[in-house]
Amino acid sequence: MCGIVGYVGFRDVSDFLLEGLHRLEYRGYDSAGIAVMSGDEIVVRKRAGRVGELSQFVKDNPVKGKIGIGHTRWATHGATTDENSHPHYGGNGEVAIVHNGVIENYDSLRRKLQQLGYVFKSQTDTEVIAHMIAHHLAEQMKLEESEPSVESCLRAVNLTIDRLKGTFGLCVLFRDCPDTVIAARSGSPLVIGVGKDEYFLASDASPLIGYTKDVVYLADNEVVVLQPTGMKIAHRTTGSVRPSIQTLDQVSADIDLGDYPHYMLKEIFEQPTTIENALRGRLDEEEATAVFGGLNITAQQLRTIDRVVLTACGTSWHAGLVGEYLLEEFARIPTEVEYASELRYRNPPMGDRTLVFSITQSGETADTLAAMRECKRKGHPTLSICNVVGSTIAREADGGIYLHAGPEIGVASTKAFTSQVTVLTLLALFLGRMRHLSYPAGKRIIKQLKAMPEKIEEALKCHDRIQEIAAKYCGFDNFLYLGRLYNFPVALEGALKLKEISYVHAEGYPAAEMKHGPIALVDEKTPSFFIVPRGGIQPKVISNMEEVKARKGAVIAVACEGDEEVARIADDVVFVPDVEEYLQPLVCAIPLQLFSYHVALMRGCNVDRPRNLAKSVTVE
Ligand code: M6R
Repeated sequence: MCGIVGYVGFRDVSDFLLEGLHRLEYRGYDSAGIAVMSGDEIVVRKRAGRVGELSQFVKDNPVKGKIGIGHTRWATHGATTDENSHPHYGGNGEVAIVHNGVIENYDSLRRKLQQLGYVFKSQTDTEVIAHMIAHHLAEQMKLEESEPSVESCLRAVNLTIDRLKGTFGLCVLFRDCPDTVIAARSGSPLVIGVGKDEYFLASDASPLIGYTKDVVYLADNEVVVLQPTGMKIAHRTTGSVRPSIQTLDQVSADIDLGDYPHYMLKEIFEQPTTIENALRGRLDEEEATAVFGGLNITAQQLRTIDRVVLTACGTSWHAGLVGEYLLEEFARIPTEVEYASELRYRNPPMGDRTLVFSITQSGETADTLAAMRECKRKGHPTLSICNVVGSTIAREADGGIYLHAGPEIGVASTKAFTSQVTVLTLLALFLGRMRHLSYPAGKRIIKQLKAMPEKIEEALKCHDRIQEIAAKYCGFDNFLYLGRLYNFPVALEGALKLKEISYVHAEGYPAAEMKHGPIALVDEKTPSFFIVPRGGIQPKVISNMEEVKARKGAVIAVACEGDEEVARIADDVVFVPDVEEYLQPLVCAIPLQLFSYHVALMRGCNVDRPRNLAKSVTVE
């Protein structure tokens, strides 16, 4: 949540900062701002609203310089006003800072600073950091009777962050050290781009694409000093750090919209490719199993695992539910799916042989990271299933599996979900083949997995039909989503998609649970989406459809191609290819993603930037 950019070098910094903020806008879009070292002062331009509005404002009020910082905000403390937008000045404009995270003890710090005479212009927790840095700098200057140096600026930052409780990724400009940016992280991500006589800084790598391929991921408790002539990283307790430069393998096309009107639609249509990428190099047909490069855990250790805990949030949690069913069916390992936000504060009994997987697209979700750290602290092997290479969770996990889905920019997660389910299927195959799963069964799973990219391509052909259905139902304000077994998590996911981008109330339930309460909601104004592909208990779900019809509720069904019985009962049906039950979430998710996309469009909602949300939830 919140995106940060910074730059030191020779370019026109406003252009880089604004372009970077556009690329980071998915992290928060309540307001945006930049601060530029211009002559001998720091000039701030900031605005409530989208980055586009800031760009126009800067165009009308240009600011020139070669060193600067920028921010796009997801509001935590204080409303979305110009004053609460970042950057914030500290002191009398001696420093300016941008911040991602939450300072929990800001109130007491604010009161102390007010007693010292500092005047606050915003309601944010961030302004406290700005004034504290300015204060510590001023105190040193008084003692040393000298002008600020890089060393004194660094000391002021360190003294300040020693007093902060909470999370931060922050980036600071100093009026009297005009060639320097200092950044620090504790809980909120920062990546440095290394160029020739220039350095870039951002919350994730997307602003760096096209500028440099050499990146350094800042670790928690590290502070970096950037100047055009070099960078110095130090850990707050262990001292100087030798930067580990990694190669960024993203290209501009990954973050371009191409011919699509929205990232969400682009990402939905990328799914045949992203599923193929998740499978690439991971199928061992000889041994009828899956192979993974980075688990960092021995086969012997894996054979002794007697319980798996999958922890995640939101859509990734839904993928985890599919994973639970897969792991229990194929590997016969008792598996639980835990909301990371709960697990981090719970203390469930977990034996020595419990393996923990954190599932996350971004690799930065604060709750998932905290849950993972808690499990690690207790000695459990912790692995990640993650999309963003080099993200905090991917780096801190003992090992893991990357999704290779490419950047997911739309706030509503789509391709990450199907890639997570694909990887979890591979994992179930892999752990299953170490235990009870037979060679022919393994062969069969591989054959079916290999066919999935094509099946997804077929499923996407429902696009026109879904548009018709969306046009018919887009005026309704309540929906039920119902499915059973592997399609129960799909029902949850369909409901979440509709809620988050269309602002339409939707509930996902196991179809059979409906009669224990939610059926009371059914009337002619509450349509139900049934995910009812062929399979063992399909007749039971068909009975549930009848129960809804009997109460005048409209039924929209996702069914297998040619299923006449479902088509006869449902008011509207959308067909997907017939696949094995455990692969149904992959094809059945597609029409639900498309439905929420079109309903959102028809209701005039911002599909890629829904209100109140941000792509990576890096605060609690
Ligand atoms: O990056 P993560 O997978 O850890 O994110 C978890 C959730 O915040 C995320 O899936 C969220 O629910 C999506 N916006 C849903 O579309």
